[in-house]
Amino acid sequence: MNTKPLLEVDACVFDAYGTLFDFNSAASAARSELGEDWQRVSDLWRQKQLQYTWLRGLAGHHADFWQVTGEALDFALATLNIERAGLRERLMDLYLKLATYAEVPETLRRLKATGRKLAILSNGTPAMLEAVVNCAGLQQMFDAVLSVEEVGVYKPHPAVYGLACTRLEIERSRICFLSSNAWDAYSAKAFGMRVVWCNRYGQAPERIPATPDGEISELSVLPNLLASVPG
Ligand code: LAC
Repeated sequence: MNTKPLLEVDACVFDAYGTLFDFNSAASAARSELGEDWQRVSDLWRQKQLQYTWLRGLAGHHADFWQVTGEALDFALATLNIERAGLRERLMDLYLKLATYAEVPETLRRLKATGRKLAILSNGTPAMLEAVVNCAGLQQMFDAVLSVEEVGVYKPHPAVYGLACTRLEIERSRICFLSSNAWDAYSAKAFGMRVVWCNRYGQAPERIPATPDGEISELSVLPNLLASVPG
């Protein structure tokens, strides 16, 4: 995918899990308990967590992301026959302390110095997002930390992307949305935002509407893509 400079961007809006915060870092931090199963737990936990958001969205059975994350973890542990006292609580607690990807703090600092607004737009509950942002010491970076709980439906419902425009008071075509979750990036583009897909895991392009404006492999190149001053 060709990634040309993006002009006339007034705000950068980031997905949280997988884009700023490494969801693998929870199971990885419990390696001493999970042993070599940690990656399988992490993969299945994440896959099921996302599936449950989509299933609940289609069926109209919304429950918040803390509940969905816990239920997905229960499924993953049961599938892998892992039963250990206190493990569920420990992994859920670690989900509130996820590590950022290495380039994230410096990239946010550089973007903020350009005067653009920065925000998070995530499936996470307000409490989950506040916890990871505070744990990473990033509270001062964001003009808004937006949760789908405000609209009561998960990504990729258009109402979620619309929430960022409403709350930031910026039209969709002047917002650059960043996600490592390809389906999230494509869906924000279909909504009408400018989008850069942060393809951390070298995934194949999706076959859903609509192709993002650009693709990068990690976030540190973003400030250079947004070369012009906002205006
Ligand atoms: C989020 C999920 C999609 O943060 O990663 O919204």
